[in-house]
Amino acid sequence: MDALLHDSITFIIMGASGDLTKRKLIPSIYALLHHKKIKSFAIIGAALTDTTAEEILEKAAGFIPDKKPEIWQQLVDSFSYHKADFYRDSDYQNLHEQIIAIEKEKGLAGNRIFYFATMPEHFAPITNKLAIHGMAKRNGHKQTPWTRVVYEKPFGNNFQSAQAINEQIARVFHEEQVFRIIHYLGKEIVGNIALIRFTNLFFQPLWNNQYIESVEIGINEKIGIEGRGEYYDRNGILKDVVQNHLLQMLALVAMEPPEKLIGESIRDEKAKVLKKTKVESVLLGQYEGYKEENCVNPVSKTATFAALKLSIDNDRWRGVPFFLKTGKSLPKKEAAIHIKFRQSTCLLTENCPVDSNYLTISIEPDEGFFLEINAKKPGLNYAITPVTMNFCHKSLFGPNTTEAYEALLTDVIRGDQSVFVRADEIEHAWKIIGNIDNSSVPYPYAPGSQGPQELQVWSDKMKIRWRS
Ligand code: BG6
Repeated sequence: MDALLHDSITFIIMGASGDLTKRKLIPSIYALLHHKKIKSFAIIGAALTDTTAEEILEKAAGFIPDKKPEIWQQLVDSFSYHKADFYRDSDYQNLHEQIIAIEKEKGLAGNRIFYFATMPEHFAPITNKLAIHGMAKRNGHKQTPWTRVVYEKPFGNNFQSAQAINEQIARVFHEEQVFRIIHYLGKEIVGNIALIRFTNLFFQPLWNNQYIESVEIGINEKIGIEGRGEYYDRNGILKDVVQNHLLQMLALVAMEPPEKLIGESIRDEKAKVLKKTKVESVLLGQYEGYKEENCVNPVSKTATFAALKLSIDNDRWRGVPFFLKTGKSLPKKEAAIHIKFRQSTCLLTENCPVDSNYLTISIEPDEGFFLEINAKKPGLNYAITPVTMNFCHKSLFGPNTTEAYEALLTDVIRGDQSVFVRADEIEHAWKIIGNIDNSSVPYPYAPGSQGPQELQVWSDKMKIRWRS
């Protein structure tokens, strides 16, 4: 269990009435409390919605299994909600007065985390207003009390808007105060990718186009859009998952060795490889019934499924396709990276292996690294069978890996930016997505199916046999 991280924190959630607050932020702050990582704190929620602290907490409670009453009570006592229009100066003045009063009442030192859980078009204006009203100050790394700002994905809506937000942030804050969240980077196994790649020498000579035939990265979801129609219909799968989670995993798999295994060097290399990445082909789908979801345009062309082939134009990866696939309303939840190695020349006189080796990095449901190799079937003859060498995270380290948002908030409190995304990475990722033509109607697919029927033809053409 981690020691107490910081004894005095004010969390200010801008956009507190939304989905993220109830699903992830409040449950994560609960987990921080439960794991004794925080002690004296306040959570100040602000949004335009007519709601109450009780209503927000009641919704959040459903996302905290096995709630302990005494811990929950601490959270209830520390949470307050303030209705605020983020475009009205007087509301900022009121909010600021509330923050000061609450910090005084609770004896908090004024270390503030502003969490932007709003639509991205509000990022720049709110950032600006926080500065104008003196609520969030530019400060250096060692200065206290500190202010940190956390921006939730999607960061902008395209390359231009992301760039404009980054420019506004830079006018107000030092980059070391800025935490851009792509929560897959907070997952334990994703955090293992660079470490395992670069601390095990045998991977080094193999990790290139000479030995790797293709890479598949996917996030399949069983759930649909879960009442998030307004947000989802504006973004769709490309902006909701591909631009961030999938491209970040691609960058971790494909980047060159960083100078050191530390955040800044890793971010340098991720940015470089994203700059060289290009979309070659795309297939988009939409689950049947999507257009009837709440707050979705009845003639919407928003995709809820995407399969993509990408290429990376550098010496290491030239000629190796990177396949990405993700969708809502698929048969089951699964997130994994499959590295397919080239097939070795068969020296057997018969029964040659039908497939090559795979390294699967499984994020969900099983967390771990699984290397599929060919072995001999017991018996006298050389008969081959694929077997798996496992690093099963749960079996080795127990079932409770820290949930991504708890891990990310822990890092924000520590001031550690390693798994947060830098401005240039985000901008390169937008450029990759920006080149996709998504003007045509996506192919329909039945909820619970593997995606549109057209996927089969597309996959045959692209020469991909999906593993997930
Ligand atoms: C979020 C997306 O970033 O990631 C959601 O907005 C998606 O639409 C979610 O469901 C998937 O994350 P996880 O951790 O549940 O796989």
